[in-house]
Amino acid sequence: MKTERNNEEKLHVFARLGKYLAWTSCLFVVVMFSLVLALSGFHLPKGIYADKPNSPIQKNQIKPLKSRVPEPEYWRAPDTIQLQGKAYADLIIYGKNLIVRTAYYLGPEGIVGKLTNGMNCQNCHLDAGTRPFANNFSVFYAGFPKMSARSGRKEEAFERIAECFERSLNGKAPGRNSREMLAMLAYLKWVGKKQNAAHSIADNSVKKIPYLDVPADPLKGKMVYASKCSSCHGETGKGVASPDEKGYIYPPLWGRDSYNDGAGMFRLGNFAGFVKNNMPYGATYKDPNLTDAQAWDVAAFVNAQPRPHMDSKNDYKNLYTKPIDYPFGPYADSFSEEQHKYGPFIEVEKQHALLKQQK
Ligand code: HEC
Ligand code: HEC
Repeated sequence: MKTERNNEEKLHVFARLGKYLAWTSCLFVVVMFSLVLALSGFHLPKGIYADKPNSPIQKNQIKPLKSRVPEPEYWRAPDTIQLQGKAYADLIIYGKNLIVRTAYYLGPEGIVGKLTNGMNCQNCHLDAGTRPFANNFSVFYAGFPKMSARSGRKEEAFERIAECFERSLNGKAPGRNSREMLAMLAYLKWVGKKQNAAHSIADNSVKKIPYLDVPADPLKGKMVYASKCSSCHGETGKGVASPDEKGYIYPPLWGRDSYNDGAGMFRLGNFAGFVKNNMPYGATYKDPNLTDAQAWDVAAFVNAQPRPHMDSKNDYKNLYTKPIDYPFGPYADSFSEEQHKYGPFIEVEKQHALLKQQK
């Protein structure tokens, strides 16, 4: 009797367990199915929920990874893939190659000409001039011809390119009508063409960083250099040559093969702004590595080292247009060359603005 009742009870328990298992596995299947749908990016047709923006389905949609979402306020360069099959593609791509591998084509051992110091345009115009706050070419072509404060006259686009050849690459530019110049112009025109009103943040050139209230200090900068830069750019600033000896893997920061003292990078504000948001290599404006003071100090150290000289006495003939961190006099204000080179810049800027107003 007793065992019979026990068996009956057991059967009952098994039946309940069975039911329970059936329900849980059903539930499991449903949950897994939705999870797979959600992960595979399946969306219910928009129309159904369009009038209910806060419906739970919309809320629970798995969001795409943040890094994949374009940031509308920053410029996004077109991709060269879009050039496939286009008639002018070859010229544009050659232009891009000249920006990326300048030394290979035009350096001391260049296969097309021997015009430059072995650096590449891309060394300072990162990612072929498409990276935010790394001297990108987003607004360049659309703005030319334009008045140049430095030369004091209206310039064509090719003349601005030539200036970087003569200063940053301490060399000579290919001729105005050479295939090389035309190719670079074609690339710069094409890459900047998406420039429009939606690009609300000016991310061309570099992000200026706040002024210090003391002069930038080359001695402190030397320590920053030793700990954060010399591993790539070398203890003597010479960089590391590429195995084919046509250029550099890590470009030089001073010495014979570096930019000359007429270059944009010789101005402390440009150097500090570039380095703060792009160096050590891998740092970005979103994830900088240096403090502002470290960026100013290392700029002071590097730009205190020897480098090729350029006669720039014809630059900024109109003194009121001279940038306050331009390290060669004469000036409209009363501050020394030393202070115009290393700062502090706050007072200089104030007086400069005042004089400009009174002019
Ligand atoms: C050593 C760094 C460096 C190198 C190398 C360099 N540039 Fe530049 N370039 C700059 C800086 C810095 C500026 C911005 C100058 C300023 O604001 O005074 C600039 C500005 C420009 C501009 C104007 C951009 C604009 O929006 O107005 C063009 C075009 C340009 N460079 C082209 C080139 C080309 C082409 C090469 C290679 C032949 C090159 N640069 C190599 C640092 C460099
Ligand atoms: C991990 C290696 C690495 C480190 C560390 C590094 N850089 Fe660079 N740096 C590069 C590379 C590579 C380039 C050229 C980028 C390109 O061509 O795309 C470059 C370019 C530059 C340029 C522009 C080109 C030139 O030669 O004038 C400057 C200026 C510069 N670095 C400064 C610094 C400073 C200052 C530091 C230390 C705070 C630093 N870098 C640390 C790898 C490095």
